Amino acid sequence: MKFDHVGIAVRSVTETLAIYQRLGGFEVRLTEVPGQRAKIALLKAGETSVELLEPTSDESSLAKFIRERGEGLHHIAFAVEDINRSMDELKGKGFRFIYEKPADGKFGSRVNFIHPKTAGGVLVELTQNGRE
Ligand code: CO
Repeated sequence: MKFDHVGIAVRSVTETLAIYQRLGGFEVRLTEVPGQRAKIALLKAGETSVELLEPTSDESSLAKFIRERGEGLHHIAFAVEDINRSMDELKGKGFRFIYEKPADGKFGSRVNFIHPKTAGGVLVELTQNGRE
């Protein structure tokens, strides 16, 4: 497993992006992932990234997260070679996943999340990155 990115829940990608652009000259890619009801800005920082996530629906778990806990650290993500294989292995070790099967992530990736209750209180994303 390679550390891939940290996900930060924000009310506005545009506003938070302005903060990060003052912080450093990050290379930025913007996208939207309908399945996760999120607008995303990915800021490249060396081999890893900072992912800013803005909910596109008030009903999403991301919107709920911001309502209950405010903006801030939402998840950490590790890249794996084969997400189905990793899920099988980790389920065998007692980890619970949010989705039954991997879901579409940004830029052609396949993702799933380990439930914080089985991961020391942190939402942990597994991502099998696409070629985009
Ligand atoms: Co993520």
